[in-house]
Amino acid sequence: MSRSTMTMSPEVLGYLARVGVREHPVLAKCRAETASMPSAAMQISPEQGGFMQMLVRLIRAHRCIEVGVFTGYSSLAVALALPADGHITALDVSEEFTAKAHRYWKEAGVAEMIELKIAPADETLRTLIDNGAAGSFDFAFIDADKTAYDGYYEACLELLRPGGLIAIDNVLWSGRVADAAADDETTSALKALNEKIHGDDRVHMTLVPIGDGLLLAQKH
Ligand SMILES: C[S@@+](CC[C@H](N)C(=O)[O-])C[C@H]1O[C@@H](n2cnc3c(N)ncnc32)[C@H](O)[C@@H]1O
Repeated sequence: MSRSTMTMSPEVLGYLARVGVREHPVLAKCRAETASMPSAAMQISPEQGGFMQMLVRLIRAHRCIEVGVFTGYSSLAVALALPADGHITALDVSEEFTAKAHRYWKEAGVAEMIELKIAPADETLRTLIDNGAAGSFDFAFIDADKTAYDGYYEACLELLRPGGLIAIDNVLWSGRVADAAADDETTSALKALNEKIHGDDRVHMTLVPIGDGLLLAQKH
């Protein structure tokens, strides 16, 4: 999701878009076309896409999981940064959103690298674990229903190899996690997860204030 917690002038945002990221033409097309959808704010920002591409290159990722595909911006960004034998297992419940994603993947020439699983993500993650995939993934991006994040985090941690990286989106929730009085279900779930990962000695962690907050957790 692209809501930004930082206040930046339109000039700085324009500068960032121009020289801060090299956006593939199909990513730009996906962003432009998604902008007219009512749920457009669910998409990550171009600079977050560029940052995630750098992460997957740095850890030399081959096998990735994505929880929450929408129209495909983040999965396409990650796929474009993977080597030719790279693979993404992409999880979503929406046929409608992911049909659009598939069109962008195809246009960018990465559709063969992305395996889409249409089902509730907790079920797909459980099936992957039951089928023996624990320890076999390098990178996971979690960007779906926030109240289920804790379960996604635990499952992804099991699925990652040591040194693998989980990136969790929207962990600042427009700053509401810092409001002691905010106790709605989503904010409470994100506050609890942030505190849990902060104290979780199974991972190295850092919370990056990009977009709506991106929590990185690297498995020991
Ligand atoms: C914030 S959007 C993902 C945005 C995407 N990462 C991007 O950059 O464009 C969240 C997605 O999660 C999906 N979703 C919601 N609940 C889900 C669930 N229980 N299991 C799998 N996907 C779910 C929605 O259909 C939606 O496409």
